[in-house]
Amino acid sequence: MLSHEPLRRGYDVDDNAIRFSNYFHVLRELVHFSNGWLPLAPEFETKYRLGDHLHDDARAISKVKRRLYELRHPSEYPGAPGPELNAFLDRIAGAGSPEEHLAIAYGEAKPALVEAIEVHLGTLDPVTDEPSLRLLTQLHQRQAHHIAELAPAPRSRNQQRAATKLGSLPIDLKAPARELRLLPPLEEPARDDFVEVTADGDPFLSDELYVNDPDENHVPVEPEEQRHFFHGLMDAELCAAELMARNSHEHPEMPWDFHVDMARQTWDEVRHARVHEILMPTELGCAWGDYPIGFGYFRSIYERDLLDRLALFNSTSEQKAMWRHSHRRKILVDRGQATIAKVFDYLLADEVPHVHNGVRWGTYLIDGDERAYRAYVRELREGLDRTGAPS
Ligand SMILES: [Fe+2]
Ligand SMILES: [Fe+2]
Repeated sequence: MLSHEPLRRGYDVDDNAIRFSNYFHVLRELVHFSNGWLPLAPEFETKYRLGDHLHDDARAISKVKRRLYELRHPSEYPGAPGPELNAFLDRIAGAGSPEEHLAIAYGEAKPALVEAIEVHLGTLDPVTDEPSLRLLTQLHQRQAHHIAELAPAPRSRNQQRAATKLGSLPIDLKAPARELRLLPPLEEPARDDFVEVTADGDPFLSDELYVNDPDENHVPVEPEEQRHFFHGLMDAELCAAELMARNSHEHPEMPWDFHVDMARQTWDEVRHARVHEILMPTELGCAWGDYPIGFGYFRSIYERDLLDRLALFNSTSEQKAMWRHSHRRKILVDRGQATIAKVFDYLLADEVPHVHNGVRWGTYLIDGDERAYRAYVRELREGLDRTGAPS
C-alpha cells in the first residue's frame, strides 16, 4: 500500500540543484584526473579498478546533468565553483603522482561525496523529489564500493571539515568555467615492476599482433606461440585503455558525450586485459610479466593529435582487429580451444562501438563531415607500414 505519511520539508529546488552542482564538479575533476593518472599507475589491478570507476563516474555525471536540467539549472555547465569548492577541487588537481591521486581521490574526495550524499538522502523529501532519491541511492552505493576497492589512506581532519559542507558550497552562475589542469604529456605508460620493458618488446612476436594485410594475418596455434601472443595482446589492451584515457584527459574542451565514450572504451580495454591475464595461467601455461613488452606502437599513436589518434587507432587498428578476431575465433573453434574462441567473440563484439567512437568523434572534429573523415582515414592508412604503424 502507498504510504500516506506527511511530506518532508526537504530541499527547495534551487538548494537541491546547488548540491547536484557540487557533485558534478567533484565527479568531473575525479574523472579528468583518473584519466590522466591511469597510464602512470604501474599495477595492473589499479589500472583495472580506475578504468572501472572512472566509467562509473562518467555515467554518474551524465545522470547528474540530467537532474540539473530537470531542476531548471544549466546542465551543460552548472555554474562555476565558488572559492571553497575550488579549493577542494584544487586538492584533487594538485596530486603529484598516481599514489597521491589515489590517496586524495579515494581517501578524501569520494568519502566527502559519500557523506554529502548521506546528508542529502537524509533531508530530501522522497515523494516530491523521488528522482533525486533514486539517483543518489545508486551514486552512494557505487561510491562506497569504489572506496572499498581502492583502499583509502587514513582520513585527515581537513577532509572531515570539507565533507560536512560539500553539497552546500556556493556556485557562481556568472563566473567563467573552471579550467581543468592538464598533466604533462606522457613519456610512456607504466607497467607492473616485474614486467620488463625493452625498445623492441617481445622478440618472439615480431609484428604479428598488428599485421594489417588479411592474407598475412596469422593465427597462433602452437602453445609456445599462443603464450607470447596473448601476453602481447594483454599489453596491447592496456595501451588501448591508456590511449583512450589520455584522449579524454588531454581534451577537456570536447563535448561531454565524448568523455563518456572514451570512459566506456577505457573500461572495455582494461576488462579485455583482465581476460588475457586470466587466460594465460588457466589455458596457456604462462603469466603476465613472462615476456618483455615495448611501447613502439603506443608512441606512434600517442604522438599524434586527437583526430589522427582516432583515425589511426579506432578507425584503423580497431577496425582491422574486428576482422582478425572473427578469423581467429573460427580457427580456434576448429582446433577445439572453445574458451579462447569465446574470448575472441566477446572482444569482437566490444570492438564495434570502439570503431564507431572513431567515426563519431573524428567526424565531429572535421566539422561533422563524415565523408571528409573517411577520406582522411584512407589517406592516413596509405602512409602505414605493413604492421599498421605510421611510417
Ligand atoms: Fe580491446
Ligand atoms: Fe578496442
